[in-house]
Amino acid sequence: MTVDHATTLAEARQRIAGAPDDDALRELEREYVDKSGLVGQLLAAIPSLEPAERGAAGRAANELKQAVVIALEDRRRALLTAALDAERKGDGFDPTLPPPSVERGSLHPITQATRRLTEIFHAMGYHVLDGPEVELDWYNFEALNISKDHPARDSQDTFYCDEEGKRVLRTHTSPVQIRALEHLEPPFRAVAPGKVFRQESTDASHEHTFHQMEGIVIGKDISVAHLISAMKTLLRGIFDRELEVRLRPGYFPFVEPGFELDARCPFCTEGCGVCKRTTWIELLPCGLVHPNVLKSGGLDPDVWSGFAFGLGLSRLVMLFRGIDDVRHLLGGDQRFLEQF
Ligand code: DAH
Repeated sequence: MTVDHATTLAEARQRIAGAPDDDALRELEREYVDKSGLVGQLLAAIPSLEPAERGAAGRAANELKQAVVIALEDRRRALLTAALDAERKGDGFDPTLPPPSVERGSLHPITQATRRLTEIFHAMGYHVLDGPEVELDWYNFEALNISKDHPARDSQDTFYCDEEGKRVLRTHTSPVQIRALEHLEPPFRAVAPGKVFRQESTDASHEHTFHQMEGIVIGKDISVAHLISAMKTLLRGIFDRELEVRLRPGYFPFVEPGFELDARCPFCTEGCGVCKRTTWIELLPCGLVHPNVLKSGGLDPDVWSGFAFGLGLSRLVMLFRGIDDVRHLLGGDQRFLEQF
């Protein structure tokens, strides 16, 4: 099989340049380049040529193929450019207009606070732990020195998950204290952020689901001074400056002594809306880990001691973000969430 390559190529180029669309180009590609096309036939015919002619015939066929492929690509690009140009000139396309607005998501204020705080605690050498939301009665109450008749166990407050009352939706993040004691080698520091659940009638300051962040530090000869110092470091991490703190007595079965820790209002000196004109902000409940809790976690209270605290994440986010109804937090209303 012989063809005049120059004439064939000129003809192919002319037909390609005149092809009106992609389908026509594909058709020409089949006709010239594919195995069953012209180049394919030329190559297939080579073995039947005189050995001396084979090299030249092979080269010629491949050159023809290359040239046709390039012509096809050029035409494809030209068609695409023309299509885009036409679109630009068509119905009111204005390349100077700003692009259509993009709906941007944002992190939930609780997520923002959790990330910020865990970052600070992480820098202070704390592990960041997770615990189950469906918790055993043992971890949620018993191991935390909350006796069977303690009011916190009242069915009013606790969502029970089974008839025997063995499983509950955790009512606080404190059970992670016990799980930390079981899993970490003392001495250690750990925080555990997460959701907690209480069976309450909801109103502006009560919600059945909210967030806390538990903290526990275990070591030897841990005292209230360590607790105060840790909380001051935390406050410096959040507000970038020294804030005065004070302790008031508080009762929680799993700490002894137990406290409410207040911090000087970071927003004023004379009293403002956030501190309710008192210049103090109720920051968190805390205390020294009760010996019974250490025992529940398998530690000898004569050797080990520690402090614990329970940050009310939802409450603090509300306080610092000026949110007046806790139900907004998990209400899922986009108009609320878009503000953060
Ligand atoms: N778990 C308690 C609650 O939800 C808060 C709490 C109080 C946590 C004192 C602590 C603590 O770690 O030391 O009401």
